[in-house]
Amino acid sequence: MTNVITTPIFYVNGAPHLGHAYSGYLADVYKRFRALVYDESCLLITGTDEHGQKILESAVRSKTDINLFINDKVQAFKTLWPELGVQTDIFVRTTDEQHQNLIQSIWNDLVEKGDIYLGYYQGLYCLGCEQYYTDYELQNNCCPIHKIPVEIRSEETYLFRLDAYRKQLIAFYHRSPDFITPSHYSQDILDYLKQGPLEDLSVSRVNVPWGIKVPNHQEHTIYVWIDALFSYLSALKKAGYDQNALTQTTHIIGKDILKFHAIYWPALLLAAKLPLPKKLLVHGWWTINEQKISKSNPETLISPNELIKKLTSDGLRYALFRQKKIAKDGNITHSDLVEVINADLANNFANLVKRNHTIILKYFSGSIDSKLVNQATLSNQSQLIIKYCEQVINEIFHFYKAFDFYQASLFWKEALDYCNRYFHQRSPWEISKGKSDISVQETCLVTSNLVRLLAIAAYPLIPTLASQVLQELGEDIATCQWQPTCDLKTVRIKETRSHFKRLVKP
Ligand code: ME8
Ligand code: MG
Repeated sequence: MTNVITTPIFYVNGAPHLGHAYSGYLADVYKRFRALVYDESCLLITGTDEHGQKILESAVRSKTDINLFINDKVQAFKTLWPELGVQTDIFVRTTDEQHQNLIQSIWNDLVEKGDIYLGYYQGLYCLGCEQYYTDYELQNNCCPIHKIPVEIRSEETYLFRLDAYRKQLIAFYHRSPDFITPSHYSQDILDYLKQGPLEDLSVSRVNVPWGIKVPNHQEHTIYVWIDALFSYLSALKKAGYDQNALTQTTHIIGKDILKFHAIYWPALLLAAKLPLPKKLLVHGWWTINEQKISKSNPETLISPNELIKKLTSDGLRYALFRQKKIAKDGNITHSDLVEVINADLANNFANLVKRNHTIILKYFSGSIDSKLVNQATLSNQSQLIIKYCEQVINEIFHFYKAFDFYQASLFWKEALDYCNRYFHQRSPWEISKGKSDISVQETCLVTSNLVRLLAIAAYPLIPTLASQVLQELGEDIATCQWQPTCDLKTVRIKETRSHFKRLVKP
């Protein structure tokens, strides 16, 4: 069965920002890695969360018809992904008719089973999160995420018997300590579940006209989070899969929405007798001037579309992974991004390719036959660099597998540092001063083959740049496979290009 990777479905009360782009990049790196290694097409699901009071209020504020308002934002997300080189397969919208029907049928099922019943709820509500908070979760009466005051709400509502699934959830987390990456979150959730009974979850809203109606009770609208979480299942169905594909599904989420995915989502799935997903990959937040990038804070809103015009999409995604561990928060400055991109992609990678291939073209008519270089009599230097790079490639493989794209990029960069050092020490350009052909041929052949290895390994992180470099070496990325070892192949080059121009420092 196919592997599935999802991003959150994003609220359409604002334009896409860098945080959204990051979740998409994460999904795309994983998808491309799997394609390279297992030759499989991993299904990438994304979409938009279009219902609820927050969206309605945004449309009203902008004096736009709600449908026009959301369609405009949906379009922005739909065009974002191809621009970023994120290869999405399914784009699900919570306003899709098929999705709305699915939600209503799951609702009916849960009502019939007695898991959802009509009651009454009083609590402290944050509109930004579209969720109730308990007293102790608040900071100075404000939502811990949006820092805005919560409002007291008391209303008739349908409730979901969350606690009925607490024991099963505890058993599940005991069985699957790696369900959440990083795994310390699994322990946090387990501790939370063990504390005692879970409050029933309010799952409908009165006075929120914009949403999916509760069947046969039109005054009530189904809670947007129920609507949103099951969009993953709608998307699978849209792709022609059934519910069992959930078992192969990894959800990429920001830490802001952990509770929904780690507690409510599995509990709802258990109630609906549906399988649980494979994994949650939780990432930290990007900040600007130490403030979380967020729609509610306009100063932090960087448009990814604008940013890639300056940095290129490969540059941006590479720098985002090189800058911080996925689970951590990290602050972004334009100059840091430029620095890392110039150092690693322009200088270390593209420049090495250009210098090496220029020599091959100038002195060897673009070709070095692997037979010219006897593998058994390679210099120590060459044997060492090959062995070292093979080890690093092996480590990078395991980092990708574990969703540790930070370490993958760091190790890749270090391997390139070593390749550059090797190239300098052997200084093949001294052929013009009488250095022997055979030594230069060895250096250039080994360098080209290491570049091939490293380009393939970096393809998930820098797909365009890696593909171009491989193309120069006569390889088509579509037919390339992950290479664990560096077997010296004949090099044939027709031309060499500057594959990555240095970016201008701000
Ligand atoms: O929560 N840094 O949608 P949303 C990194 N519709 N990632 C960030 C980020 C930041 N500063 N800000 C946002 C919702 N994100 C719901 C989800 S899923 C069934 C429903 C990313 O538009 C991150 O993935 O508020 C975060 O979880 C998500 O955007 C929240 O997007
Ligand atoms: Mg949010």
